[in-house]
Amino acid sequence: MTTKHFIGVQDFTKEELLDMLHTIKMIKDADKQGCTPKLLDGASLAMIFEEPSTRTRVSFEVAMTELGGHALYLKPGEIHLGVRESIGDTAQVLSRMTDVVMIRALKHHTVTSFAEYATVPVINGLTDFNHPTQVVCDVFTMSEHLPAGKSLSDLNVTFVGDATNVLSSLMFICTKLGMNFTHAAPKKYQAKPDWLKMAEENCKVSGGTVRVTDDPVEAVKNADFVYTDLWWWVDQEDEIPERRAAFMPNYQVTMDLLSKAPANCKVMHCLPASRGVEATDEVLDSPQSIIFDQAENRLHTEKGLLVWFVYPNLKRPSQALQAYHQGKIEAFLNEKR
Ligand code: CP
Repeated sequence: MTTKHFIGVQDFTKEELLDMLHTIKMIKDADKQGCTPKLLDGASLAMIFEEPSTRTRVSFEVAMTELGGHALYLKPGEIHLGVRESIGDTAQVLSRMTDVVMIRALKHHTVTSFAEYATVPVINGLTDFNHPTQVVCDVFTMSEHLPAGKSLSDLNVTFVGDATNVLSSLMFICTKLGMNFTHAAPKKYQAKPDWLKMAEENCKVSGGTVRVTDDPVEAVKNADFVYTDLWWWVDQEDEIPERRAAFMPNYQVTMDLLSKAPANCKVMHCLPASRGVEATDEVLDSPQSIIFDQAENRLHTEKGLLVWFVYPNLKRPSQALQAYHQGKIEAFLNEKR
C-alpha cells in the first residue's frame, strides 16, 4: 500500500475528490445519529503549526479523538523543524512514531519537503499557496445547500476578494468538479496567471469554466454561492491602507451587492472574518449566510479525510496476536518479580 499525501486538490481526480466527499457524508450522517465509528482506534496524529489556528486545530484534534485515536498539538517553535534539524529528518522521525501528520506551514515548500521524506500520510493544513482541507469542506457544504434541481457540476461559484490561498484551492476544486468559477477582484489582486492556467486545464477535462473580472456586480449576477475571505493576512499588515483603498467599497460583500445575485444565493467565508471589512455584519449574519454550517463542517471533513488517507494503511493486529504478545510479556515480568 503506497502512502498518499494531501498536499493539494490538484493531485486528485474528480472521482477521488467525489469519493472523499462521499466518505465525509457517511461520517456526518453517522455523527447526526450520535455515532462516530472508531475507524482510527489507537492511531496518532501529529499536528505541526507554524501559525495560529482555531478551526483547523480544533477540528483535527476533535476528529481524531472521536475516531478513536489521538492528536499531538505541536505549536509554533515547539519542535525542531528546519531549525536544529532538517525537515527530512523530522519527517522520518515522526513517520516512525505516528500514523499521520498535519502541517500548517508558512511556506508551501515546508509541506512538500516534509512529504518527500514522510512514510505516513501528510495533510496540508494551509500554506502560503493553498488550503485544501478548507475547500473540500466548502464543496461539501455547497453539496448540502444545492439550489433545487442543481448538482455540484451545475454550480456557479463567485469569489469576491483577494487572491488568497483559499481562492487558489477553491478555484482548483471547483474547476476539477466541473463548476463555473468566477474571481472578482481589482486587477492587482486577481488570481495569478499560473493558477488560472491550472484551472483552465481542469476545465478542459471537467467541462467547467473559469474567469476573472474586476466587475463584482456582474460576477455575482448568476452566483449560487458568493465566497469571500480576508483582504490581508498578518504578514501583510503594512499594506492595509493600500489594500483597503483597492477593495473598498466595490468589493465589500454588502446587502446591496448581494441584491444583485439570485435571491437564493448563499454567502460563504472560511473564517476568521474581519467583520465590516470584506463583508458586513448584516451579510455574515443574514439568512443567506452559511458560514457557521461551513465552520462546523470542518470537523466532519477532517474526520472523512483522516479516514480516507489513514485507514487503508493502518495495521490491525488480530486479538489472538495481541493476546499472544501480552501473555508473553506478562509471563516474563511475573517471573522476574
Ligand atoms: N479557516 C481556517 O483555516 O481557520 P483557522 O485559521 O482558524 O484554522
